[in-house]
This record gives sequence, C-alpha cells and structure tokens, in this order.
Amino acid sequence: MLWFPILAISGLMSSSALSSANRRGGPPTDQIGWSADGGVRYLDQTQLPDAEVFRETADIDEMVEAIKMLRVRGAPLIGVSAAMGLAAAAAVEAGNGRLNLEWFEDAAAHLAGARPTAVNLAWAIDRMRATGRRTFAQGADVGTVATALHDEAQAIWDEDIAMCAAIGAAGTALVPPSATILTHCNAGALATGGMGTALAVVYQAHADGKEPRVVSTETRPLRQGARLTVWELHRAGIPVTAIVDSAAASFMAGGNVDCVITGADRIAANGDVANKIGTYGLAVLAKAHGIPFYVAAPFSTFDMTLASGEAIPIEERPGHEVDAAPGVPVRNPAFDVTPADLISALITDRGVFRPPYVESLATAAAREVSGVRRTID
Ligand code: MRU
Repeated sequence: MLWFPILAISGLMSSSALSSANRRGGPPTDQIGWSADGGVRYLDQTQLPDAEVFRETADIDEMVEAIKMLRVRGAPLIGVSAAMGLAAAAAVEAGNGRLNLEWFEDAAAHLAGARPTAVNLAWAIDRMRATGRRTFAQGADVGTVATALHDEAQAIWDEDIAMCAAIGAAGTALVPPSATILTHCNAGALATGGMGTALAVVYQAHADGKEPRVVSTETRPLRQGARLTVWELHRAGIPVTAIVDSAAASFMAGGNVDCVITGADRIAANGDVANKIGTYGLAVLAKAHGIPFYVAAPFSTFDMTLASGEAIPIEERPGHEVDAAPGVPVRNPAFDVTPADLISALITDRGVFRPPYVESLATAAAREVSGVRRTID
C-alpha cells in the first residue's frame, strides 16, 4: 500500500457529539484514529465527561505530552497511540526530507519514556523500532520507511481491536445472568483501541442478553471510574452506578457485588498484576467476602521477562493531583501490585487462565495463536 507523507498538523476540535457509530449505543469507537491528513486524532479524556474534545497531532512532543497528561490513557491505548504518533511524525519528517535513523531512534525513545508502568507502551514502541530499523537497514527510501511504520502502527491498532473482542468472548462465560460487576478505574473502550478489556467482558455479556449491571468505583485521584467508565457505560445503555472508593467494602459485605473485574497495566510471569492504585485493596476485600476477582488483559500487557510484580516500575505522579491541604507532603503512586494469589482468573485474548499462573501462562506464552501476532517471547 502506498501512503503519502503529510505536512505538520496539530489542532483541536471541540465536538458536542461523538461519531454516529457511538450514538447508536455500544462502546465508543473514535477514542483514537487517523485524521484526514494522516495525523493521529484522539479524544482528549481529560475533558470528559464535560466535553468531547478531539485533538489532532503528528508531533512527537505533543503525543508524549498527551500520554503524560492522560489525554490518552489506559495501557493498550497508550501503546496504540504512541505507535500511531510515531508513524504520523515519521511521515511528516519523510515529507520534509528529514527522516533518518537518528531522528527515528530519538523519537521512539522519547515516546517509550512517557509513562513507565504500562508495558504496552514499550511493547508497541519495540515493534515500531523493529520495523523502522529493518526498513532503514534495507536501504529503503524515506517514503517506504514511513509507509512501513504506518502499516505497523495500523497492525498494532487492528490487533488491539481483535484482542479486546477475544477478551470479551472469553470472559462472558464467567458472568452469571443479572450479575453485578464491580470495576475500578477505566478498562473500557476509552483505555484501548477497541471495546476495552474488563468492560469488553461487560459489553459482551450485555450483547449475550445476560443483563449485567456495573458498580464503578470513583478511582481517586483522577476519577477515571466516575468520569470515564460511567460515561461510556451509560451511553452504551448498560446500567452503572458510581460509588466512592471507600464504599466498596460495604457494598461487598451487603451482597451487592457478584464479581470484580479490573484491567491491568502489566502482568508478571507469576500472575502478579500492576493496575490502578486501589486495585490491590479491592482484591483483598473480594477475597475476604468470597467474591471472585478477575483481571482482564491482552497479551500485550504481559511482561514475561519479570518473574514477579516486585520488579514492575510504579509511576509516581505529581502531588498536586491529590486533594490535600497545601504545604503537606503528598505521595501519589498511580498503580499498585495485586499478588497473584488474590486473583481468581486472568481473562485474556488467549482464553481464561487459572492458578497456578506460572505454569498456565508459560504454556500460553509458548503457543502461537493464529490471527494474532505472537506478543511475548
Ligand atoms: O493512569 P491510567 O488512567 O492510564 O490507568 C489505567 C488503568 O489503570 C487501567 O485500569 C489499565 O490500564 C487497564 S486499561 C485496559
């Protein structure tokens, strides 16, 4: 496929409505995309639920800023948007005759360093690096390099869509009819290039006529649950109730939760899961109340190079995000690690895995699944 480079673009569009596809119900579909001139078009999630603002960029610094500021967020979506941003910016460089390996390596490293915990970012950039290095090494002209990068970014996005759907298909079997599912943060369409991870299970169960209901924790300090999860489920017509984080225990004790399903930012080889701060506490609570605790994630979220969650880097975000009296020290870790023994099952695009995860994941890692590129070695 021939794909022609674009000139620099950067812009912002305010919209009172998402696409017509979104208006029909179901998960949002235009959280990420290509703009008409080949840049990246993304929904600025910091503005939700008050306004639906779309931004367009083909600039590396702007894409890094969008990831750092959580304009695009959620482990899979960070990887997809970084890959697309790298491809779009490379196309601009190619159009200006400036695309070379040194620029490419710098840009890739800059994007890869935007956030540390979600391994999907490093995974996606590693794939882009491999494509860029290979085509440069072949002596390809800059237009061919840019086209190869675009195609790889598109493949990463397409695969993410397919992985989300596969997670939904695998997870729906775990959802009893009329279940109330508690979720944390946002692991929906807004966190992926497709229909989500934890919420893919909800969307699929809904499509299967199981009439699931969702309880969404607020998810302090940035309120992804109350702002984003509630927004996307409500517009999809799925019953959802928002609660403050500290209400989870009493909801479980009151028999108001049938299972917990969260997403993940990185999963170690032993099944330990890094996810939004507060996930660990919810897993402890679920265990105490005899409630199944599931984690849904694609294999792009697995880091089989890490034996356990201890080695997962935890992002510490600025103190000003926490609502505290001025002048006091604030700690703001954005993620925590849930030990594998608190997790009832891992719902993945390659099926449902049960403990002991060391064995079940190792078997899966060694298996090539047709139609989905092998994501771990
Ligand atoms: O800081 P965020 O909003 O990027 O954190 C996102 C989460 O923790 C999600 O639960 C996780 O990425 C899974 S998304 C499918």
